[in-house]
Amino acid sequence: MTSSDSIRMENLSYSIGGRKILEGFDFHLERGVNRTILGVSGAGKTTILKLLLGLLEPDSGAVFIGDLRITGLAESSFMQQRKRIAIVFQGGALFDSMTVGENVGYRLFEEGRLSDGEIVEIVREKLSFVGVEAALNLYPSELSGGMKKRVAIARALAADPDYIFFDEPTTGLDPIGVYNICNLMQRLQAEGKTTLMVTHDLATAFATSQRFTFLHEARMLFEGSEEEMKGSTIPEVREFLEPTTRSLFI
Ligand SMILES: Nc1ncnc2c1ncn2[C@@H]1O[C@H](COP(=O)(O)OP(=O)(O)O)[C@@H](O)[C@H]1O
Ligand SMILES: [Mg+2]
Repeated sequence: MTSSDSIRMENLSYSIGGRKILEGFDFHLERGVNRTILGVSGAGKTTILKLLLGLLEPDSGAVFIGDLRITGLAESSFMQQRKRIAIVFQGGALFDSMTVGENVGYRLFEEGRLSDGEIVEIVREKLSFVGVEAALNLYPSELSGGMKKRVAIARALAADPDYIFFDEPTTGLDPIGVYNICNLMQRLQAEGKTTLMVTHDLATAFATSQRFTFLHEARMLFEGSEEEMKGSTIPEVREFLEPTTRSLFI
């Protein structure tokens, strides 16, 4: 495995309004190893994804996509590397004024590299992959929460990324919706995509990932496999896995 097959954070610190969100954070996402970052609400999970994408600049430390240190660079100079990564934002972030098909094809239409016919074919294929091809001409307001998530995933897939980031993909879904999303993530992994999820949903994490990072109060408290996490004696990890009445007083 070379560094060109990974995305990394090195000794990264980031604060908002004087409050430390991340401090001395090291993180490594290797190609082919699906990871989940776990942590309570407000722990900084979404912030990590934005930093990895170069949407936020760290106070110190750096982010690397492959061999390129993107920290401090203008977005235009890491666009090629950035295109290897797609993100499914928590709310789906679909454009309400566009149909499902237009949403999924949006980036391809913007790029202007392919013909309309080629784009429509890709859009249909991606919608079929996530099982909502019948929604092609509907608007986001006409979809259920689970369908919106799946359309958002189809949109992320349109550019054929190597890495896909998922921000709380199962939060707010019913059990069938959760099952569908886990199944989709597993199928993407089988096709060679590397997934990075941030969530507080343990069941989804264990169903879709091999490695786990636990974020607590700006620091990485744990990194390891499911077995190692379940056997961890770190009090905060134990409390996250099996909350007790002690949690009422934290
Ligand atoms: N734009 C912002 N302005 C002020 N505080 C923010 C902003 N974005 C995030 N935060 C704070 O930073 C912390 C981490 O946020 P976030 O990364 O969204 O956490 P998570 O995704 O784990 O719930 C939270 O306490 C949140 O309130
Ligand atoms: Mg979040």
